[in-house]
Amino acid sequence: MTTIDDLTAMKGRSEKFASITAYDFSFAKLIDSAGIEMVLIGDSLGNVIQGRNTTIPVSVDEMAYHTEAVRRGIDRSLVVSDMPFMSYATPTDALHNAAILMQAGAQMVKLEGGEWLGDTIYQLTERGIPVCAHLGLTPQSVHKIGGFKVQGREKKAAEQIVADALLLQEAGAQLLVIECVPSSLGKLLAQALNIPVIGIGAGPDTDAQILVLYDMLGISPAFPRFSKNFLPDSDSVLMALQQYAEQVRGGAFPAAEHCFSE
Ligand code: KIV
Repeated sequence: MTTIDDLTAMKGRSEKFASITAYDFSFAKLIDSAGIEMVLIGDSLGNVIQGRNTTIPVSVDEMAYHTEAVRRGIDRSLVVSDMPFMSYATPTDALHNAAILMQAGAQMVKLEGGEWLGDTIYQLTERGIPVCAHLGLTPQSVHKIGGFKVQGREKKAAEQIVADALLLQEAGAQLLVIECVPSSLGKLLAQALNIPVIGIGAGPDTDAQILVLYDMLGISPAFPRFSKNFLPDSDSVLMALQQYAEQVRGGAFPAAEHCFSE
């Protein structure tokens, strides 16, 4: 079983690791067989499973249902579940809802947001619930951000993301997902933090990459520019997953066309 310490040790050895979303048992088994180090039950299930425009309607019960299904397919990968919109609005809500996801089989929970989450992350980790932070493009805040846009392009915004990341690490976060930022900021975060930084549309220099499963199999209705369809060059879904992991570990993915500049 892959542990958070294993992923931190990989960062220490400058070994990149791969992660991917999953929502059900059968894909989870393939992901586990492909040796992908971390699987995220993403609230992107609102988009790719439920056909919604945003992740906002996803509930804790839905996350728990998909977490249970994925968990049954996993022997080795670290299992991380997203806390959905408003399920961690207060530390008390976060403790209650994170417990539901952990009891459904998650080994860690992921929360979107910056400085305001410091106390919540402290309280969760103090009670034995590991936390992955999520900064940059945070889809649950799409209406506040004004769309699914690259974040951290301006100097001040980039500095705020770095400050938030350091604060959340200090509060106890053990992983960070950074989404849709210029490659230079992805690199800066990986250098500034001791915890592994997992990029999605954040350039080639983060400690790891994550993709939405249905994007990398080319079956999402909206294909993001930072993703890559690995299926055409593979004979099977398993081979596509293996290719993805190999290209992440070897640094071939993401290539320049999947990255954003300042
Ligand atoms: O919900 C999700 O799939 C995610 C990834 C995009 C990181 O949060």
